Amino acid sequence: MKNIIIINGPNLNLLGKRETSIYGDVSFENYLVELKKSYPAFQIDYYQSNIEGEIIDKLQEVGFSYSGIILNAAAYTHTSVGIADAISAIETPVIEVHISNIYSREEIRHKSLISKNVQGVICGFGLKSYDLAIQSFTKDE
Ligand code: DQA
Repeated sequence: MKNIIIINGPNLNLLGKRETSIYGDVSFENYLVELKKSYPAFQIDYYQSNIEGEIIDKLQEVGFSYSGIILNAAAYTHTSVGIADAISAIETPVIEVHISNIYSREEIRHKSLISKNVQGVICGFGLKSYDLAIQSFTKDE
C-alpha cells in the first residue's frame, strides 16, 4: 500500500471559515473524509501546522519512508528557503498544491520558492487540487 501525507501550512486549519470566497466553505477535515473514501488503496495521513519549523520537522520525518508528499505550504510558499531546502534534502517526491490560482492573485503570491524543488505543481482547482495531486501518484500503480 502506498502511504501519502498531506501537509498543510499556516491558516489552512481555518479552511471552511477563512476567506470563503477564495478557499470555499468546506473544512479540510470534512474534505479529507471524502478524499480517503475515493482512494481506499492509499494510506493518506494528514498534518497541519502554522509553524515553519514544524513543517520542516515533518518533511524530514516522513521524507525517507513515505511514497509521496502533498504540500500546501500556504504563505510559506512565498517566503521559506528553509522549506525549499528541506524538500531538496529528502527523497520522497513532493507535489506542491494550492487551492487558489496563485498566479491570478496579488504579485507577492506569484513567486514560489519551493516550486523548483518539487515534482509538480497543481493550483487553482479549489480543494480538488489535492485530489489531482493524489491522482499523479496513481500513475505508478
Ligand atoms: C494558498 C495560497 C497562498 O498564497 C496563501 O498564502 C495560502 C493558501 C492556496 O492554497 O491557495 O494561505 O497556498
